[in-house]
Amino acid sequence: MTSRPNLSKTIPFFNYKGAFTEREEEFVAIFRDLIRRGAFIQQSDLAAFELHLREYLGVKHAIGVGNATDGLVMAWRAAGLAPGDEIIFPSHTMVASPASVAHAGGTPVPVDCGDDHLIDPNAIEAAITPKTRAIMPVQLNGRTADMDRIQAIADRHGLFILEDSAQALGAKFKGKFAGTFGRAGVFSFYPAKILGCLGDGGAVVTNDDEIARRVLLLRDHGRNHDGEVVAWGFNSRLDNLQAALLDAQFREYGDIIAHRRMLAARYQENLAGLRQLHLPPAPGSEPGRFDVFQNYEIEAENRDALRESLSASGIGTLIQWGGKAVHQFAGLGFKANLPRTDLLFRRCLMLPMNLMVSPEDVDYISESIRAFYGA
Ligand SMILES: Cc1ncc(COP(=O)(O)O)c(C=O)c1O
Repeated sequence: MTSRPNLSKTIPFFNYKGAFTEREEEFVAIFRDLIRRGAFIQQSDLAAFELHLREYLGVKHAIGVGNATDGLVMAWRAAGLAPGDEIIFPSHTMVASPASVAHAGGTPVPVDCGDDHLIDPNAIEAAITPKTRAIMPVQLNGRTADMDRIQAIADRHGLFILEDSAQALGAKFKGKFAGTFGRAGVFSFYPAKILGCLGDGGAVVTNDDEIARRVLLLRDHGRNHDGEVVAWGFNSRLDNLQAALLDAQFREYGDIIAHRRMLAARYQENLAGLRQLHLPPAPGSEPGRFDVFQNYEIEAENRDALRESLSASGIGTLIQWGGKAVHQFAGLGFKANLPRTDLLFRRCLMLPMNLMVSPEDVDYISESIRAFYGA
């Protein structure tokens, strides 16, 4: 059970120090240029990044905001959430998803996930009450939920969809990008995200002119183009500097995604057949799906011992959200029975998956896992 591969390596789960070193000179040049132009808030670099995001996703509006959490709160407000409105969301998500609903005056209702760790459409239908107003799929781990089924449920019950696509820039379902299905979609540019900046950042995207108009107001103190305050707003604009750094990386976004999909295929090739593991769907294995692998989240028998063994081999792993789904945080007061999510959180583990990870690293990690199970 404990024999390890001979080769010794250190593979952190995510190496913040190394994440941007390759682009250091380029980023310093961008920083210098912005200082010399005095271009800090709502300047041309933000507009350029918003334009490129809009063009990439094929949406009418992309609005840079301070972070995805604020983006979600503003999107809910813009969509007119009213006190008492129930919003169905998957409990396997960051607490930011339901927190955004609560901050916008709604009531978040957690539901179970399916075997791909995303919201289970069957669970949505069962949670609908007369107060349900919307569904918030979370496009987790760089994968899009089954939007056909979710859209059909929403249509049947007169609900709208708002996507937490914080982890899924570039993921597609039947050729359509995550974040572009509902009334609005929200992305995060936290440094460890597939497209990350040097701090916090996010974007709200939408094809709905009214939502866009309101989010633009809300992110800038409720002020319109003329500086007239027409609503209680926030201060949550994507910094011009962060937008410029994102725009520089965005030019190579296709390559960035390709690297992650290559790593995922390698994990699959190396680990398929190990009965102790449940792996995410392999890239290219499902028609109509294009996953971008923000994370490579597996389920593993004897998870905690595996994690310790990998750590002893120099391999960093992570359990999402500090090891608890949202409904498991007692302080939040949810009384939900979500057996698939509870099972998942006894077994889930994320393996290293980012630009700094090489195919050889994946081989070493896979070999270490095989050694742990004596396979
Ligand atoms: C699924 C999900 N939703 C929301 C957020 C919040 O994003 P941000 O940190 O940009 O506010 C995150 C960030 O980790 C996330 O993973």
